[in-house]
Amino acid sequence: MKRVLIYVAALTLFGFSQFGLAALAQAKQRAVLFEFAINQAEAVHTQPRLNDSADGKVERATEGSVEKTPELKKQMMLDRNAASNDQQELITQASLRVKQFSTQLKAELGAAIQSGGLNAGVEVCHSKAPKIAERLSTEGWSVARTSLKTRNQENTPDQWETDTLTQFDARFKQGEKAENLITIRSDKKHFRLMKAIPMDQVCLACHGTSINPSLQKTIQKYYPNDSATGFSLEDIRGAFTLQKDLSE
Ligand code: HEC
Repeated sequence: MKRVLIYVAALTLFGFSQFGLAALAQAKQRAVLFEFAINQAEAVHTQPRLNDSADGKVERATEGSVEKTPELKKQMMLDRNAASNDQQELITQASLRVKQFSTQLKAELGAAIQSGGLNAGVEVCHSKAPKIAERLSTEGWSVARTSLKTRNQENTPDQWETDTLTQFDARFKQGEKAENLITIRSDKKHFRLMKAIPMDQVCLACHGTSINPSLQKTIQKYYPNDSATGFSLEDIRGAFTLQKDLSE
């Protein structure tokens, strides 16, 4: 009897400890998800700029001055409030796609560089970047990257993208954080969002001012019209550019 009791007690304790561990793991997962949601929310809500839409649905937000004058602060509040619930939802969807694009490409690029060096990195970027973009272009979304100086000409910006990239450069040079550089634009038929991509130490080898000659050869082989070099750490390299067709 005593033995049985001990056995039951041990089992109960074991059960509790398992339950405790599972609960702990769940709580941790929730905390991570929560943190992710907060980051997303912060990233997209800090300063989304709302551009004039074709039918004038949303008023133009601030431009130029980035000094945090009371006027600008007021305007930033307006920006946040101006995004309707529908737009907030679209911003969230777009941000998730941006995050996926960036995580997947970084993983592919990192693995390629580690196993085959920078030349392999170029090849992987060449074959995988457009594929990842295509894979994420579902449910009416089109997902891509663009820049004022492109490597792949398919990524050439249109007029709105050119204007937005120029604006991002100016805002970044005046001290705004790259991760806050987001602009949205919407009308009844389309929703568009751009998010700046800053330069980073690892990008310099392939987009910086001095490219290794053998790497240069590989780049030229795939991209004879490459103009995506000469960037420094103080530059915005380009932007993610997303569009959703709302008429579907
Ligand atoms: C191994 C070389 C390599 C490295 C490292 C690299 N890139 Fe690229 N990058 C490329 C290639 C190749 C393309 C063209 C991809 C394509 O065909 O779509 C490209 C394209 C881009 C584009 C799309 C616009 C364009 O020019 O066509 C952006 C934006 C970009 N890279 C940003 C970055 C950033 C930011 C980093 C650092 C985090 C980085 N790249 C690191 C090789 C590289």
